[in-house]
Amino acid sequence: MSYATIETEEKGGTGFIYFNREEHLNTVTVEMVDEIMKALSNMEENCKSIVIGGRKNFSAGADIMQFKDMNTMKAYEFHRKLNDLALYFREFKRPIISFLNGYVLGGGLELSLSTDIRVCSRDALLGQPEINLGINAGAGGNVILPDVIGRNRALYMILTGEKIPAVTAYDFGLVDIIAANPLDEAIRIATTINNKPENTVMLAKRAVNSTENKVKKDLDYEAALFGILFSEKDTQDRINNFIKRKGT
Ligand code: COA
Repeated sequence: MSYATIETEEKGGTGFIYFNREEHLNTVTVEMVDEIMKALSNMEENCKSIVIGGRKNFSAGADIMQFKDMNTMKAYEFHRKLNDLALYFREFKRPIISFLNGYVLGGGLELSLSTDIRVCSRDALLGQPEINLGINAGAGGNVILPDVIGRNRALYMILTGEKIPAVTAYDFGLVDIIAANPLDEAIRIATTINNKPENTVMLAKRAVNSTENKVKKDLDYEAALFGILFSEKDTQDRINNFIKRKGT
């Protein structure tokens, strides 16, 4: 099966999903969300694990071009679309390992937060820059991030919008492993998992994610707050300035 925004491969019991919008820093579009979900669904029965990421960049976040003229309702729906993918990752039967190269920002970081193991390159930059656009994080940046790194570090990242290097992300517990070649390391981990008892692996993931109902509810609240900010003139101005800067 071929896709417009991703490439897929199945090898050695692992399903690979490579983001294929490198010319746009793998920014996330609705089409990309749909394609990732479709690819995962095709792999769920036959692949024992999934490796997902981008060869140069993981993702610079949601594609801001999509925010042009977005109103509150459309913003809420867009956020819920990202939520669907985050929840799909979490409810997916098989473990999902993300490999993080280059920029891992905004919606990119948020989606990686819902993968099961994060392997990060030494020169990756991670951040929640949404505040610079006058919006708040989506797909768990306010919900899952504090669970992963603690409330205060999450607020530091959310409120400053600063990009942090891999080594700081590792200190924060935001990434699990730093590797010179994160794709190779992700494959090594996937292969190790593929050799473990299959049903035990699936039930271990389910057991660890047993609080999903709360996450689902909190993500919906986050989506509503995300939508509200699109009625702010300041937010609209910031988004339009970003788009104008691109000259399109
Ligand atoms: N949405 C849409 N386009 C984006 C983007 C995004 N999230 N992030 C980067 N781009 C585009 C830039 O507009 C630029 O497009 P152009 O080549 O047509 O001019 C291209 O990607 C490269 O970005 P540029 O800013 O020139 O590269 P850089 O290396 O100096 O900076 C970033 C890269 C990612 C640090 C910077 O582009 C940035 O801060 N982007 C916004 C990230 C963000 O806010 N993400 C959350 C969105 S909710």
